[in-house]
Amino acid sequence: MVMQRTFSIIKPDAVKRNLIGKIVQRFEDNDLRVIAAKMVRLSTEQAEAFYAEHKGRDFYEPLIAYMVSAPIVVQVLEGEDAIAKNRQIIGVTDPAKAEPNTIRADYALSVRENSVHGSDSEESAAREIAFFFADDEICCRD
Ligand code: TYD
Ligand code: MG
Repeated sequence: MVMQRTFSIIKPDAVKRNLIGKIVQRFEDNDLRVIAAKMVRLSTEQAEAFYAEHKGRDFYEPLIAYMVSAPIVVQVLEGEDAIAKNRQIIGVTDPAKAEPNTIRADYALSVRENSVHGSDSEESAAREIAFFFADDEICCRD
């Protein structure tokens, strides 16, 4: 199994409800390590660029408004098979359809206010990590 890095966001609804610790605990309990982290308030321009793949979809404008509505916590997670593992821990986009014991099943409020983001591929992970973190902000751990 290969060591991978993936990118995570704890979204506004979760930060507002004081769920940062509970969400990070899920990652750590599944052997994902936080190797970079910071709290940021996205500008509209940043949110639009981050979610550019969804531009034109009916949910895009309200998604952007939601993503800038409060601070978020962005993180790089490292572990074996981290990209797929993180998506499993998170659950599918719609919390009503998410597997039991996933973060979204347990904490998300709606399809939009769904508490967390996780990269969906190696390409997305590389792009999303570089979007938020300089190389020297990511810690080397052994
Ligand atoms: P998407 O990349 O499809 O989901 P995921 O976060 O599981 O990778 O969509 C990005 C975000 O857009 C999603 O987390 C919440 C929002 N969204 C909506 O508000 N409504 C929708 O119908 C979809 C598909 C997504
Ligand atoms: Mg996605």
